[in-house]
Amino acid sequence: MEVLVTSRYECIIEDICELNWSGLAENDLIDATWAYYYFSIQFRESLEAARELFPDDIKLQQLEREECNTDNLSPWPGVASIGERLNHDEFMARLLKLTPIGAERTAALQEIGQSYLDSVRDAPCLVKALSIASYEDGGLEKVFRAFLTAPHWNKSMLQAFKHFLAEHIRFDSDPEQGHGSLSRHITPDDRISPLWSAFNQLLVRAAPRLSSAK
Ligand SMILES: [Fe+2]
Ligand SMILES: [Fe+2]
Repeated sequence: MEVLVTSRYECIIEDICELNWSGLAENDLIDATWAYYYFSIQFRESLEAARELFPDDIKLQQLEREECNTDNLSPWPGVASIGERLNHDEFMARLLKLTPIGAERTAALQEIGQSYLDSVRDAPCLVKALSIASYEDGGLEKVFRAFLTAPHWNKSMLQAFKHFLAEHIRFDSDPEQGHGSLSRHITPDDRISPLWSAFNQLLVRAAPRLSSAK
């Protein structure tokens, strides 16, 4: 008998994909974009942890070149000039400024994002490092495809985020040079579940309509 074992973190990825992305109003998607900005900081810090733990790993060195101080999302109007190199979380920070949302809403999202970062920064370095393959080898690609089922992308911030998502699907999925192939040798296990769970909670706290019935 074939037994299909699904890790807990893989179930959480499915839960995120099953949220009500297609029911998001434009403002909800803006809130979820803010949430993703805070995740992108955690992503970079986890990659830095992986690089520190495995400094001689050539694939991780290549991955860092694709995620940090890179021009692979440039140019984008109002965010990055032609050939400009920047970290992907800096790209996210800049695109948030394209569509101001008012001081009160900004402060609420900053509070949600900061409390998320405070919680995930407590994770051991090894757990952060292990999470990278789960992000790069299909996990985030699924989440990005779920994001893209949201119906409203007209605002300039959302246009820039759509570019970020579409390009990341391309970066991660190339079978030869993709980010999945650069990271899957660092095999994740269920120690990373709390990081995925925190990401899920971050999204739902920032954009509560995500947890409404479809
Ligand atoms: Fe990235
Ligand atoms: Fe990537």
